[in-house]
Amino acid sequence: MIATAEHGPIGIFDSGFGGLTVFREIKNALPMYDYIYLGDNARVPYGTRPFEEVYEFTKACVFKLFEMGCNLVILACNTASAKALRTIQQNDLPPGKKVLGVIRPTTESIHQYTKTNKVGVLATQGTVLSESYKIEITKFHPEINVYQHACPQWVPLVERNEITGEKSGEIVEKDIQSILAQSPEIDTLILACTHYPLLLPLIRQHTPAHIKILPQGELIAQSLVDYLNRHPEVESRCSKNSNMQFYTTENADDFEEKAAIFFGEKVHAAYIAI
Ligand code: DGL
Repeated sequence: MIATAEHGPIGIFDSGFGGLTVFREIKNALPMYDYIYLGDNARVPYGTRPFEEVYEFTKACVFKLFEMGCNLVILACNTASAKALRTIQQNDLPPGKKVLGVIRPTTESIHQYTKTNKVGVLATQGTVLSESYKIEITKFHPEINVYQHACPQWVPLVERNEITGEKSGEIVEKDIQSILAQSPEIDTLILACTHYPLLLPLIRQHTPAHIKILPQGELIAQSLVDYLNRHPEVESRCSKNSNMQFYTTENADDFEEKAAIFFGEKVHAAYIAI
């Protein structure tokens, strides 16, 4: 039985460390709220898992955040947003609880970035196969052509903190070449996985300078600011003491060490069983 506390922290969920790239921006834009970050590091990557598994894992983590008092949870994970968000929203939400994803804010605003109307989407296998970006972008902006490429090695690189170096550079270079080979007119690349901004220096290094690289963090943070303005009934149920808590389903010491690098500040983390 999930208790609905009157006020609670905002929950931020990802399969691992990637959601920290989103959380960092949300915290900068909205420093007054309380937050609980939950990384399912024990079961990352989600991107190569079947629909049913991503749905079950995501649902279990979201419900854990509800149990911890969150009334609003952000899926800071494209794979979970692509494969689990709608089902959770339609079938599973207890009264007074809300879940938001990260695909809509990016797809809505993409026309502001492309001049050629040719956009590349770099994402996990799960997100690419779901076609969520193609479907959503075409719905909002039918004039835009979407080219997709899955980068299954990128999330493991980030989770192992191999975000620099020659070997990682070669992997990134190969994937960038594969997507750009789909159209010479691509002028914008969406990093449609929240882990990928942590590889940004390597991605930039292997991408021609005229191509824009679009991480999602700021877009998502801005979209949350707008959402809370438009939904005072949700906003008024978010507690405001500027507290942050971090939980991982893996080793907490390892999480603290890497999160300090990825989040840009020292964090205290605790293990949680899901
Ligand atoms: N960070 C996640 C995303 O945005 C998923 C990574 C994974 O677990 O494969 O898609």
